[in-house]
Formats: sequence, C-alpha cells, structure tokens
Amino acid sequence: MKNINKFDDGINRQLCVAPMMDWTNRHCRYFHRLLAPSALLFTEMVTADAICYADPNRFLNHDISEHPLALQLGGSDPEKLYKAIKRAEEYGFDEYNLNVGCPSDRVQSGRFGACLMAEPEIVQACVSAMQEATEKPVSVKCRIGVDDMDIDTGLDEFIKKIHMSGISLFYIHARKAWLNGLSPKENRNIPPLNYQRVSRLAVENPALTIILNGGLTEKFDIIQKQSEFDGVMLGRAAYKTPYILAELTAHTHDALSTDRFTIADKMADYADIVIQNGGMLHQVTRHMLGLFAGERGAKYWRRQLGEAARLQPKNPDLLRETAEFCCLQINREVA
Ligand SMILES: Cc1cc2nc3c(=O)[nH]c(=O)nc-3n(C[C@H](O)[C@H](O)[C@H](O)COP(=O)(O)O)c2cc1C
Repeated sequence: MKNINKFDDGINRQLCVAPMMDWTNRHCRYFHRLLAPSALLFTEMVTADAICYADPNRFLNHDISEHPLALQLGGSDPEKLYKAIKRAEEYGFDEYNLNVGCPSDRVQSGRFGACLMAEPEIVQACVSAMQEATEKPVSVKCRIGVDDMDIDTGLDEFIKKIHMSGISLFYIHARKAWLNGLSPKENRNIPPLNYQRVSRLAVENPALTIILNGGLTEKFDIIQKQSEFDGVMLGRAAYKTPYILAELTAHTHDALSTDRFTIADKMADYADIVIQNGGMLHQVTRHMLGLFAGERGAKYWRRQLGEAARLQPKNPDLLRETAEFCCLQINREVA
C-alpha cells in the first residue's frame, strides 16, 4: 500500500468522491459520509462569481459530519477566486480545488474548466491567488489533455507549470476532453481512458500526490488502483452504486461493511430534520436510489424512493419501511 498521507495534512485521500453538479449536494454528501466515514468528499462545482455575488450560504452551508470536505471552485479570474476563498474560509472547508476538467459549453464560455489546460499561465495565476487566500491545501482537477494536445509532452508541461506555482495535489480524470462537438456526458464516456498515462505521471513525479479518476467501477480493480496511486476518486460509481463506498471502506479497515438498513435508518433520521426545516423527503431520497443496486428488491426500493417519496414528501418512515422490506428480501435470499 502506498503512503496514504503523502500530502501530510491529515486527510486520507485513498478514497475520494468526485464533484458532480446537481448530484453531490449536501444531502448526497451526508449519505456518502455514512457509507464512507473517512473518504474525502467534494462539493459540486461552485463558481467564484456565485460565491462573490450571490448568497454564499446557499452554496457553502454543510453539515459538520461531511468533513473532510473539499470545495470545488470554477473560475479563471485570480482576484475573484481569492475573494471566493476568503468568503468560504468561515465555513471551514478542508481543501480548495480548481476545476480544470469540465468541458461544458457554459463553462468554456466563462473561460474556465477543461479549456484552461491549454492556458497554464492562467491556471498558475489562479492557484497562486487561491493559495494566498488560505492555509488549506489547494489542488487541481484536470484531464490528461484537451483536443489535439500531445498527452505525452502536454500533460507533463501543464503539471510542471502548475507545480512550479506551489501545487502538488492533482486529481486526474484519465481521458482527454474534446472541446468541440461532444456533450459533457459524451466527454465522460467517449475519449478513451488512459490509466497508463496517469501512472507514468505518478511514477515520474514521486513528489506529487496523484489521485486517479475516471471509469472506476469494480471493487477489486479499485482496490488495486488504490495501491498503485495515492488514491482514487469515484464519480458515477459512487452515485449509482453507493454501497461500493461501504465495501471499499470495510476492505481498508478489514471490517464488515455497515449494513444497508443501518444506513437507511440514519438517513431517515436525517430526512426527519430536513422535513422539519421545510424540505421534502425526495430531496434526500433521490440520491439514494442505488443503495440496493444489484440486490433483490432494488426495483421496489427505487420506485418507493423515487415516485412514492414524491407523493409522500413529509413521511420519512417511508424510507425506514422500504429499507426494512428490502433487507428482508436480501436476508431471505441468503437463507
Ligand atoms: C452528473 C455529473 C456532474 C459532474 N459535475 C462535475 C463538476 O461539477 N466538477 C468536476 O470537476 N467534474 C464534474 N463531473 C465529472 C466527475 O467529477 C468525474 O471526473 C467524471 O464523472 C469521471 O469519473 P467517473 O468515471 O468515476 O464518473 C461530473 C460528472 C457527472 C456524472
């Protein structure tokens, strides 16, 4: 196993859950935290503008249990990124991450995200300003390249420049972003994965902390990658098959995974509080649809937490009762 805390800031990055817009909001993160007590969680990307000019509580409030928690920022204006972090500091984030990997048109027109890989000087200015604003670790999430960039020389040059600006922590989505012609969704699937390229980067730069991201779905493959890299970052697998977070955590600690009923019961307690504060059950349950993925009862679980939760928005017992039913199905199958 590699040195899990090479970065030496007390945060274990062996298992990280990726920033995902509209998915990894605070309800989702509360759920993921129950499944993976020590994983590093990320917020959705928040633009520096949103923090500077809108009500920051809307984007930055979170539960204390979500820590360790990284705030991902989108932007390319060093001054705004500086201001955004100064504002965010009072919320107590554990790390600030700059998005240099998102290919969407909206993000490109604001000239940030993956297109910045072709403009390392801007990224240098941004991360310098970010580091000035905080004592907390500042990191970059990027791809292995964009468009026709040469992934052999281009990635090395990009990383070298950003490292010269004091950054040694990188989350790398192991595929290129093709900025013209592909939707963001296609850009997460079509450009081929190249783990070897990220591996070479890690081997040739032992002083850097390199976290591998992209296409990781299988438990034993992920465990193998955890031993090869400084850590892994899971996106869609964490969201669509969240129980993998509990299984990976159990493997790391050589313990049994927390059972699904316990997780669902704690989420029902959490939903109680959300509802008391004016929220609705499905705002919580929409992130939990995959908890029983691959198990008997998975379809019933999804239907209850999807459609039925919308019809009974103030009834957290729906969650408890459905979990009890689905766990009975699993146990019956085992017996
Ligand atoms: C719905 C969705 C939203 C995403 N939003 C962001 C984002 O806000 N910032 C970011 O850096 N990446 C974002 N991503 C990309 C993921 O962080 C991750 O890099 C990508 O999904 C590849 O990892 P995976 O194959 O494990 O899903 C998003 C992905 C998805 C599926």
